[in-house]
Amino acid sequence: MTHVTILASPNPKDAQHARFVWRDEQGCARTAGALAQALSLGLHQGGSAVIELRGTLGAGKTTFTRHLLRALGVEGRIKSPSYAVVESYELPGFTAQHFDFYRFNDPQEWEDAGFRDLFAAPGLKIVEWPEKAAGLLPAPDLYIDIDMSATSDTERTVQMAARGETGRAALTAMQASPSPAETGGSSHD
Ligand SMILES: Nc1ncnc2c1ncn2[C@@H]1O[C@H](COP(=O)(O)OP(=O)(O)OP(=O)(O)O)[C@@H](O)[C@H]1O
Ligand SMILES: [Mg+2]
Repeated sequence: MTHVTILASPNPKDAQHARFVWRDEQGCARTAGALAQALSLGLHQGGSAVIELRGTLGAGKTTFTRHLLRALGVEGRIKSPSYAVVESYELPGFTAQHFDFYRFNDPQEWEDAGFRDLFAAPGLKIVEWPEKAAGLLPAPDLYIDIDMSATSDTERTVQMAARGETGRAALTAMQASPSPAETGGSSHD
């Protein structure tokens, strides 16, 4: 069974890339768990990470975020921030913020709502629909693009790209042992 496939960029000087195949939500949860592990130490040490999630409506951006936040220790309900634009979670050691800019259409709100300050602070920032706040958001450490399969309700093809030290370190850690592919008991394509 193939749950997850990882292809590393051959040139370490390029932005680093990885490709995953999620057969179902469990595959999504495994990748989210691996990413949580990869980010955890840096976040606890006062670091910052910005993750952009792209993909059509219903691709799984919120689902992935829920698994990621759970794996980082968030308890209780994890609401989709589609109306509030941002939901914040205080964890022991760092803050995580989950943004959804789908309904964001007034650049003035960026200043008024204090988003500039939120992005300037340390901690984890996960962003759904970053394209709706283009030009305002800082460059992300990690891009995650979730593509729905034409043939299966639950399969997703996921491209990740890392830039900068934080993103690359996270992606490298995910690709190291134990890899999501191995923990998933799957084989490579
Ligand atoms: N492999 C999978 N990975 C993630 N979600 C999956 C998968 N297979 C099925 N799903 C389901 O697909 C749905 C994804 O919905 P979700 O709200 O996460 O999408 P979204 O990308 O956040 O959409 P929106 O753009 O509306 O915010 C959920 O019901 C989830 O259970
Ligand atoms: Mg969503």
